[in-house]
Amino acid sequence: MIAAAALIELGRLLFFDPRLSANQTQSCASCHLPELAYTDARPVAIGSTGEHHTRNVPTLTNVGSRGISLERQAMRPLLRTHPIELGALGHEREIMSRFASDPATRDLFVGAFPREAKPFTLRNAARAIAAFERTLVSNDAAFDRAAHGDHEAMSDDAWRGLKAFSAHGCASCHSGTNFARGDDVPTLRNVMLTAPYMRDGRARTMDEVFERHAPELNCDERASIVALFRALTAPVVSGDPGARPLLTAPPK
Ligand code: HEC
Ligand code: HEC
Repeated sequence: MIAAAALIELGRLLFFDPRLSANQTQSCASCHLPELAYTDARPVAIGSTGEHHTRNVPTLTNVGSRGISLERQAMRPLLRTHPIELGALGHEREIMSRFASDPATRDLFVGAFPREAKPFTLRNAARAIAAFERTLVSNDAAFDRAAHGDHEAMSDDAWRGLKAFSAHGCASCHSGTNFARGDDVPTLRNVMLTAPYMRDGRARTMDEVFERHAPELNCDERASIVALFRALTAPVVSGDPGARPLLTAPPK
């Protein structure tokens, strides 16, 4: 296996592997569940030792094309102490020896970092996980098919929603193909799958989001924007990141 493929394979394995947490109870996927667009349906996250987070788990939909530094980000759940997530701080050697002593992960580490004599580091684990995260793409929603020229792929309601979305200035923050901006404005792709909402998880439903965040929308506009959100719903698949590039701007 070439190093890049081994890196992604290793990252995929680590992402789902509870041995990454100190007490071996939690993996990235415990909070970022694939079937919920990599969220967990809780208002706020709960770490491996039971501590409550103050924040809602964000989707990892298209996380590789949202301008987030994934290598650095992956270290946070590993090392964070307030609250503890994976709780790896102070347990780095113990955790890495679990992977060094398992032939399956040992060979992948060696294959992914062929020039390193001692590849078993938390930093390398984070690099592999980041490589895997970059393969997590959702780019075959009705919206994408419309963007590629199939006007009919989106309902009239969704098209009206897109107009209302621009007219009300939503797109100035939720911008580009991911309807997002860096790590401060969340993506609206797959938002119909990721309740509860807002960073602190305080909005249980989309109606509650609208009430607090966009009270200027009337009933019809809300309904058509929800139709737009449905047109932004599509499975997150782990594929070749270069296979079908995302468009850089929404359709006209
Ligand atoms: C205890 C639950 C929990 C675990 C375990 C967890 N995360 Fe998260 N994740 C969160 C929460 C909550 C946030 C948002 C707040 C923050 O950034 O800490 C987040 C944010 C992120 C983000 C930023 C997404 C964005 O839109 O800004 C990425 C990427 C991510 N996590 C990847 C990972 C990876 C990789 C792992 C495993 C190494 C992991 N997470 C483990 C709860 C978790
Ligand atoms: C000034 C920038 C800005 C504008 C304009 C804006 N948003 Fe947001 N939006 C945000 C930020 C930042 C958040 C996250 C806030 C939080 O979690 O407390 C957010 C959150 C959301 C969420 C919840 C996402 C989630 O996963 O929790 C939805 C849905 C949403 N916005 C839709 C809209 C709509 C519809 C409009 C237009 C009527 C709009 N936004 C206008 C910045 C903006």
